[in-house]
Amino acid sequence: MRMVDIIEKKKRAQQLTDEELEFFTNGVADKSIPDYQIAAFLMAVYFNGMTDRETARLTLLMAGSGDTADLSSINGYKVDKHSTGGVGDKTSLIVVPVVASLGVKVAKMSGRGLGHTGGTIDKLESIPGCNTSLSTDEFFKVVNEVGCSIVGQTGNFAPVDKKLYALRDVTATVDSIPLIAASIMSKKLASGADGIVLDVKTGSGAFCKTEAEAEKLAKTMVAIGEHAGRDVRAVISDMDRPLGHAVGNNIEVIEAVKTLLGEGTEDLRGVCIELASNMVAMAKKISFEDSRKEVTAAIDEKKAFESLCAMVKAQGGDERFLRDTALFEKAGFSHDILSEADGFISGMDTYKIGVAASLLGAGRETKDSLIDFSAGIYMHKKTGDRVNKGDVIATLLTNKQQSIANASDVFISAVSYSSEPVKLQPIIKKRITKEDL
Ligand code: URA
Repeated sequence: MRMVDIIEKKKRAQQLTDEELEFFTNGVADKSIPDYQIAAFLMAVYFNGMTDRETARLTLLMAGSGDTADLSSINGYKVDKHSTGGVGDKTSLIVVPVVASLGVKVAKMSGRGLGHTGGTIDKLESIPGCNTSLSTDEFFKVVNEVGCSIVGQTGNFAPVDKKLYALRDVTATVDSIPLIAASIMSKKLASGADGIVLDVKTGSGAFCKTEAEAEKLAKTMVAIGEHAGRDVRAVISDMDRPLGHAVGNNIEVIEAVKTLLGEGTEDLRGVCIELASNMVAMAKKISFEDSRKEVTAAIDEKKAFESLCAMVKAQGGDERFLRDTALFEKAGFSHDILSEADGFISGMDTYKIGVAASLLGAGRETKDSLIDFSAGIYMHKKTGDRVNKGDVIATLLTNKQQSIANASDVFISAVSYSSEPVKLQPIIKKRITKEDL
């Protein structure tokens, strides 16, 4: 078999066989296929796509290309969640303890932030002492004892994805639905959970700018789950506005705590309840409505907050910060952004808000940049809110005073105003299960 023939076939939009896909992933793994041929193949896929069957086969080969987590020493059904990435998306910090407080195990491997999006691991590490690099034994022990644990991804999971992702990044082939689906699902399948709930974001802050693209991505990933024999559901949620009020690290932890204590914003609480209800319904094999009642009660009765405290404590973190969030370090400088108009906020470009937070120190420019845990943006007003000229709509927080002017310009350019009231889109747009395929 020759790689040039596989590229030729995909260039002509023909379907690849299992053997051809295996030849490709083996050649990426053992480095026998040069980067220029991999890049040409990726571009052919970008233009001609893949069938669900090809995508599923590619995903399984990528998932099997490195380590796979064996979660069998954790008792019971294990459920995982994944978000396609957003701004102010602190849902894992809320959803994971909610689900665990209802007796469903979550052994979650999460990522760090890069570019305009945040990462759960950075947020957790803003809690003093919280260790996200547990050994496998410690990780399983925390899940068995507390019901949940969130750690950074260690080990060599889906190395073929690492290679492909790096090449996609520099060949303008990131935004291909089969390639995104295979990339996300290969890592999720390798992480070993029985059931996976995907939060597919759509809007200005997301990979999928339109709902139609998000639906296609969601269906492709649910179909991969079917081929792999795992339960997979997807929720399509709005990322045309940042989730909640806070974008940053410790300020997002504080907002997650508030949400678990019943004081969260409606959008953030809505997404969390939707995701957690799907996870619990899947694990307990109960209806979505029954699951939703359990999830709402777990928040209202503060059981889920106790699960977050227990998880953080078991991972070495100082739970006093969760019980008294005033203990968190505060940024040295703050700068208020004022409304430029009387009327209503009609839009907030979520991508730009993520960039502004990153400039203030909340995110990374490169993989090795240091994060400032107290930096970020607190939005007092959000899309749809009525404002008067001069009202404080957001506060920028940073320890780098020199970053304020630039971040402020980016933030101001992200906000648009209207004199008419604005109709907000529902935060949950759609739920996709295998019945929708
Ligand atoms: N996240 C991933 O892990 N891979 C992609 O291709 C896109 C988002």
